[in-house]
Amino acid sequence: MRVLLIGSGGREHALALGLVADPSVEVLFAAPGNPGIGTVAGMRDVVFTDPAAVAALAVECSADLVVVGPETPLVAGVADAVRAKGVPAFGPSAAAARLEGSKAFAKDVMTAAGVPTARAYSCADAESVGRALDDFGAPYVVKNDGLAAGKGVVVTEDRPVAEEHARACGQVVIEEYLAGPEVSLFVVTDGETAVPLLPAQDFKRVGDDDTGPNTGGMGAYAPLPWAPPGLVDEVMRDIVHPTLAELRRRGTPFAGLLYVGLAITTTGPRVIEFNARFGDPETQAVLALLETPLAGLLHAAATGELAAHPPLRWRAGAAVTVVVAAEGYPAKPRTGDVIHGAEVSGIIHAGTVRRAADGALLSAGGRVLCCTATGSDLAAARDAAYELVRGVELAGSHHRTDIAAAAVAGRITIPG
Ligand code: AMP
Ligand code: GLY
Repeated sequence: MRVLLIGSGGREHALALGLVADPSVEVLFAAPGNPGIGTVAGMRDVVFTDPAAVAALAVECSADLVVVGPETPLVAGVADAVRAKGVPAFGPSAAAARLEGSKAFAKDVMTAAGVPTARAYSCADAESVGRALDDFGAPYVVKNDGLAAGKGVVVTEDRPVAEEHARACGQVVIEEYLAGPEVSLFVVTDGETAVPLLPAQDFKRVGDDDTGPNTGGMGAYAPLPWAPPGLVDEVMRDIVHPTLAELRRRGTPFAGLLYVGLAITTTGPRVIEFNARFGDPETQAVLALLETPLAGLLHAAATGELAAHPPLRWRAGAAVTVVVAAEGYPAKPRTGDVIHGAEVSGIIHAGTVRRAADGALLSAGGRVLCCTATGSDLAAARDAAYELVRGVELAGSHHRTDIAAAAVAGRITIPG
């Protein structure tokens, strides 16, 4: 089949590698892509948040499948526009992508579906913000009610900081703090049938030991050696299926990738957030372990035929990805620095560009590279991923040194 992949980050590079490894893929196009993606795909230029432009490109490429990576085009209705041209698209409609696009909408769906999550208030003025902060107490959780690339959430013990974030955002969701280790579970669905991928863990804070501000994600690993047996089945039964049923009931079925961000609390798994697309950088780790051909799986979901798809097959062992970030990320990333040592198998490109004059590889975003490796166990995968990090030269760059470290040391415990 002919596949068009929309996006330009590390997640899309990982998806591109998975798609071209599928023998049923005859040709892969990517738009706008990045230099890593360009090594395996024909690159096209498109404004990826423009539904009509993406749909026209899908037709021009004679695509049999369009895979939409990021949330902004999904929320803008890119998948709807592609489907309207008769081309199967992997990615939810704009209406269903509101599960990610609006925190308040997601809470409303969860309440209607009886899905366990943090209690929350939607607030738009200082008075209601104050009441919500009083009700829950510290640590305070204040979320921008819109897309914010993983950076719209402040979790703090400091009340003035919480109040200031609420003021800066305008419309916010303030919620109860959920204590417990976090899990990212990705579910491929055609709206009815739902297939979970391996659970993963992401590292949201910029610094070691979960210090500093939130980022888009500084590293990830899969699977989770500490996860309670039955966790995935429980999440599918109590969270995923009720949510999908509620969206069908509303006439806006969710087909694509449902990303369930969970905290494993004393009272069981509870939803921290839903996203409407593959997570970044968890995808880099999870797809490194997927043996089932990726394009066939996504095509089955895009065409409502997931029930007939064979069970997923996974490689034994574990995968770890470590993000190499630009100086100043997340506040003010510096771009335009020359990168050496990144054209190596396992190094996934996120924010990179090629300089036209001499072909040099330059940093072009906050998260620049994702050093991704597999191993027979988590310790081996972690060592191999850090070996890749050591081979990268990028002035001023930084990375976390503790990705998967607590899991390797057996230091992750479920409260209670
Ligand atoms: P979100 O964008 O909603 O995923 O939030 C980003 C990060 O903030 C999450 O991955 C958590 O680490 C943290 N967070 C968000 N909501 C909560 C909550 N209710 N309790 C504890 N931590 C939270
Ligand atoms: N890894 C977090 C996200 O993709 O939102």
